[in-house]
Amino acid sequence: MPPNIEHQNNENIIWHSHHIDKNFRASQKKQKPCVMWFTGLSGAGKSTVAGALESRLAEMGYHTYLLDGDNVRHGLCQDLGFSKEDRRENIRRVGEVAKLMTDAGLIVLSAFISPYRYERQLVRDLLPEGEFLEVFVDTPLAECEKRDPKGLYKKARAGEIKQFTGIDSQYQVPEQPEIHLQAGGVSVFELVERCLLSLNERQIIHLHS
Ligand SMILES: Nc1ncnc2c1ncn2[C@@H]1O[C@H](COP(=O)(O)OP(=O)(O)OP(=O)(O)O)[C@@H](O)[C@H]1O
Ligand SMILES: [Mg+2]
Repeated sequence: MPPNIEHQNNENIIWHSHHIDKNFRASQKKQKPCVMWFTGLSGAGKSTVAGALESRLAEMGYHTYLLDGDNVRHGLCQDLGFSKEDRRENIRRVGEVAKLMTDAGLIVLSAFISPYRYERQLVRDLLPEGEFLEVFVDTPLAECEKRDPKGLYKKARAGEIKQFTGIDSQYQVPEQPEIHLQAGGVSVFELVERCLLSLNERQIIHLHS
């Protein structure tokens, strides 16, 4: 269902501030919440890198949650298709969920193709300055297509899937991603290391030497 605008503007719905707040929950977990928003072509390695990074963070004792594109479409967004309106609503919901999770003090990792700048901006705008980290998984189309683990590029080339990102639908390259992973031919381990170093520089995590 699309968001109910009338409901959003209802002046009788009043925010209740609770005693246990974001700062409390984050300090209890001894971490700084953020959203790491992995974007890139299908097959670029978003789920793989985000998953491997989450494992490393969990080993170090950090509290995380990974939101993955296909998975949310099985539940939270199962009523949505791929029209422009539905894509927007899909991202809006995911963004709101990610925001709730940062409110819970978590380090959120998300893996969505999110090909349009406006989608990524929409989520960035939901979060306080510094809490949205755009991670561009920059794998050349040729490599993604060669991997093709879901057989989707093959179907798109055969015209069985229309509007497939990178084939007959645009991917708008991030202009200033916080983390730019030039991922072609680079191991998952190395890409995870780069993410960890960037999180350390931003004082979201603390790597011990
Ligand atoms: N750095 C890498 N080096 C080699 N292979 C990789 C690398 N990263 C991911 N892969 C492989 O590429 C394939 C696609 O990865 P993955 O499923 O993570 O892509 P994705 O960006 O999440 O795609 P989608 O948007 O379709 O979900 C997988 O088979 C994965 O094992
Ligand atoms: Mg994926």
